[in-house]
Amino acid sequence: MKKRIAVLPGDGIGKEVAKGAIEVLQAVGERFGHQFYFQYGMIGGEAIDTLGTPLPDETIELCKQSDAVLLGAVGGPKWEKKPAHLRSEQGLLRIRKELGLYANVRPTSYYPSLADASPLRKEVIEGVEMVMVRELSGGIYFGKPSERIQKNGEDGVVDTLYYQRAEIERVVRLAFELAVERKGKVTSIDKANVLESSRMWREVAEVISKDYPDVELEHMLVDNAAMQMIKNPKQFDVVVTENMFGDILSDEASVLTGSLGMLPSASLSERGPYLYEPIHGSAPDIKGKGSANPIAMILSAAMMLRQSFGMNEEADAIEQAVNQVLDAGYRTKDIMTFGKKLVTTDEMVGEIKATLMDNEAIM
Ligand code: NAD
Ligand code: IPM
Ligand code: MN
Repeated sequence: MKKRIAVLPGDGIGKEVAKGAIEVLQAVGERFGHQFYFQYGMIGGEAIDTLGTPLPDETIELCKQSDAVLLGAVGGPKWEKKPAHLRSEQGLLRIRKELGLYANVRPTSYYPSLADASPLRKEVIEGVEMVMVRELSGGIYFGKPSERIQKNGEDGVVDTLYYQRAEIERVVRLAFELAVERKGKVTSIDKANVLESSRMWREVAEVISKDYPDVELEHMLVDNAAMQMIKNPKQFDVVVTENMFGDILSDEASVLTGSLGMLPSASLSERGPYLYEPIHGSAPDIKGKGSANPIAMILSAAMMLRQSFGMNEEADAIEQAVNQVLDAGYRTKDIMTFGKKLVTTDEMVGEIKATLMDNEAIM
């Protein structure tokens, strides 16, 4: 197969892990006889510095004309003090909006060989298989007004949380569709004891659930959910929630795997192209040190192969190679534990590539 992939490496470790994922995809192409055409676009801080905007029109066009988009991460201290429209994060929010990416699917799995890397006890995390569906193009991230205001001579500020009923419906429906293929449980997380938006969310979830009699629907308040995710994460199958709650809870969920550097994601739209990115950021604290874990990005590439190109075997091959390399004891710093082999980002990528190419069991 021939596929056009837009690559937006972004800033900080985004660049470092994107490079790794491309190398792994090139190995997949070689091994399985596919031609992947990678075309690079600018986003975030790099785009601000070069073109004066966090999301140039050329990047939007490039993405729209591609079969899928791979994104590293954006952001960094250099752009933190800029006005809202010149912040690197704005590039990410806008590309999500431009591509109509309304659902961000963030799977969290237990890795037996990483049990010691998590601060949680093995009995708690063993067997966790959860997927978080985060609403991605609405909610408080996008509501207007969002600005500083003067009221009665006082300095104030407003952010707006707005959802159309249809926006809630489509993301909740997607969660139910996923649950049908999994363990048949949807946990809808909200703050319905306080927010009107959450009360509508709950109402919509109830209505949609009528179409899925075999799926169990449970509602959970977000504060309790944050606690339950650490106390008893095995209770979750598919979790669906509003944009900001999903952002926060998915970073928390990554601790179940051992590191934020392990969690991939797929951002889905009604028509495509879809966008794939690790859930972590540009990690300025480790930028340029060669210690970034490339696995979240590599697993995002695997999600792309499966979801956008229907390349199931190829995606399995990447996931298998990642597991084998972890089983063999290779570790970047974030998942390093006693007695394991500490490797750099590039070395980890090299091991995964070599395993993928050598693996007799694959194909
Ligand atoms: P972050 O996710 O960049 O980092 C949080 C912590 O996790 C840091 O200690 C970092 O070193 C570590 N970490 C993250 N990814 C890692 C990896 N692959 N391997 C090893 N360690 C890893 O979050 P932050 O520090 O709060 O934000 C830094 C910048 O990134 C900010 O500008 C923020 O806006 C941006 N950000 C971007 C995205 C994105 O592009 N999707 C996501 C989150 C944050
Ligand atoms: C993420 C990030 C982004 C978000 C930021 C950088 C805008 O935290 O992808 O999880 O909050 O969506
Ligand atoms: Mn986040």
